[in-house]
Order: sequence, then C-alpha cells, then structure tokens
Amino acid sequence: MSGEPTGMREGRFEVGSEFDWSDDWPTEGDPLPWPDDAPIFATGRGIIAALAPPEGARPRLHLPSYFCHDVAVGASAQFDLALYRHLPGRGGPDLDTLTTRPGDWVLAANLFGAEDGAAWVSWRRNRDVILIEDHTHDPLSAWARGTAADYAFASLRKTLPIPDGAVLWSPAGLGLPPAGDPAAGATAKLEAMLLKRAYLRGAPIPRDSYRALQIAGERQFETDRGGRASVLATELLHRVRPWAWRTRRKRNVRHFLRRLEADPPAGIAPLFATWPAGGAPFAAILVCADGALRESLRRFLIKRSIFAAVHWPIPAGSDPLDTEAGELSSRLLTVPLDQRYGPEDVDRMVETVLAHGDRTV
Ligand SMILES: Cc1ncc(COP(=O)(O)O)c(C=O)c1O
Repeated sequence: MSGEPTGMREGRFEVGSEFDWSDDWPTEGDPLPWPDDAPIFATGRGIIAALAPPEGARPRLHLPSYFCHDVAVGASAQFDLALYRHLPGRGGPDLDTLTTRPGDWVLAANLFGAEDGAAWVSWRRNRDVILIEDHTHDPLSAWARGTAADYAFASLRKTLPIPDGAVLWSPAGLGLPPAGDPAAGATAKLEAMLLKRAYLRGAPIPRDSYRALQIAGERQFETDRGGRASVLATELLHRVRPWAWRTRRKRNVRHFLRRLEADPPAGIAPLFATWPAGGAPFAAILVCADGALRESLRRFLIKRSIFAAVHWPIPAGSDPLDTEAGELSSRLLTVPLDQRYGPEDVDRMVETVLAHGDRTV
C-alpha cells in the first residue's frame, strides 16, 4: 500500500458515495473466511435468489426487522417473508420474536459489523431450519470465520472497490447453487468507477455523468436472480486479502468516535461506540434526535461534498412487528470511513458534523 490516503486525492475533495476505481490492492494476510473456490456472484440479492428452492415451493424466510428494504422486496419473489425483531445498536437480535416451523429459512445479519452472532449459537441447536448469515458489513469478522451456519454470504462490493461481486459459502458443508450467466449492471458500474476516479483527479467531468451510470447499474442489479460476477471482480476477489483495508476502516471509525465523544453535538450520538473483539464496524452510524435533524445534517454534509448514505430507508409501516425500525431508519446516517480515507479526512468529517450545530442548510 502507498501512504495514507486522503479524500482530497490528486484533485477534488469528496467523501463517500460509491467507490471509484483503485489501483492499489492489498494481497497479504491471513486466508479469508470462505474457501478459495467459493462461487462469486454479482450481488447479495442474487445469492438469496439462487439459494431459493425450485419454483413452486415458497418457504418462509425470516428477516431482521431492520434490513435493506430492496433486498427484502427481491426475496419476496421466491419466499414468503416474516420478520423478527432485530434493531441495530441493541447488542443483537431479539430471538424471542423469532418463531419458526421446520423447513423455514432464517437470515441472520451482522448489522453494521457491530455484532458477534453469539445469540445464534444456542438458538440454532435442535431447530430444523436453514440458517443463512449475511456478513456483508464485515466479511472478515471472527463470526464469519468461525460460523457453522448452513450458508454464509457477503456482498463484497459494499466494502471493496469492485463493480459487482458477492461470495457464497457453506460452513456446514452443504452443496452450493452455481452462479448463472453474468448479471447485467457491472459494465455501467465499472464505467462509473473509472469516470469517478478521473473526476476526483480533477478531470472536467460532471458528477452527474458517473452518478447516472451508478444508478443505471444498480437498477440492472435489482432484478438479478443469481448471475455470476464479472470476470474483473472474480479475478480480483480470488487474489485480494483486504485485511489492511479493514484495519484502516476500524481505525478511522475509532478516531471519528473518539473525537465526537470529546465534543458531543446536540441531538446527535453514535449508534454504537464499541463492537465485539474480532469485529470491525462498517462505518460510524449517527443517530439523530429526530428525522428533521438527520435530513438537515445530511444536506449540510452533501453541500460540503460529504455523501453520507442512509442504511436503509425503511418505509414507515412496512414492518407490522416493529414500528421502531422505520422510525429509527429516519434518524440514522452512515458516515463513510472506509479505506479511502486517512486521519485528516476523518478530522474534516468530524469538524463538518460539529459545524452543523443547530444550523439548517
Ligand atoms: C447487509 C446487506 N446485505 C445484503 C445486501 C444485498 O447486496 P446486493 O446489493 O449486492 O444485492 C445489502 C445491500 O445493500 C446489504 O447492505
């Protein structure tokens, strides 16, 4: 790796939003949690679709109440969905709300990389269900490395600068479905990454040009039903060992949270300030006193070229079990602190959050 990265790069300052292309890939470190020959799909939702039984059978799939709404909508094409209460920042799922019948499927998620899966170990015993774990937010966690789940997957394109790519493995040694024909969407996403890189280097490219490609690519992914990843992503994923990037992400989050703790802004707090040993957080997640403050902060940051996403917009009322999920989602903001950034960027991000104060855009 070269020296400390900076959001300033060679030209323009911009933080967050989707990855641009990287020339700099870590290849050193321990083996990854999945076998070398694990199939590489294009998307995480494609993996869920590929795991679904043949048409006709519609098993029940239990999802966390706080989860990516689009992924849930995709899964509802092949599964009857049920929800159990799992809100982020509460130390894990409330498994008393998870009632299964033999043959049900359950998706367990390491929300924001801040959980350790301990609750699932005893729950799983003597239950005739198929357990799928979603390790997207921390693919290299101790949980992912030690799990005995039936299936585990991670959408690697969420933490790595690849246009597409998600891995599936079976810690329990079950057979895996093959990935299908390549999913559409990767070409637009790759073009967007390259254009964004040129933009960050100062090329006279309008932001909208690569944003349009990102959106077009994502739209194509929406209907992915288990296509394989691009050759580019597959080649990279067979070689990259992203341990150093993950360490940087963890260090950035810690730095951000320490500074925020020293100077807490009114109405804004971290959703979590610690995480399990062997884990690394996906990002710093801010929880605002209300939805209006979150929107004000989000817009304030955008004006200063800090693009903080919402994971995830959950439509109010979409969760009959847990109205808290929609309400919480309206107050959360994800501050991107991944490997693209170094300490100076983190300082700038904290200072911008603090500068927001009680101002509105
Ligand atoms: C935790 C989590 N799991 C799964 C997915 C689905 O991955 P993909 O977008 O590659 O389908 C996402 C996407 O946002 C996610 O955040």
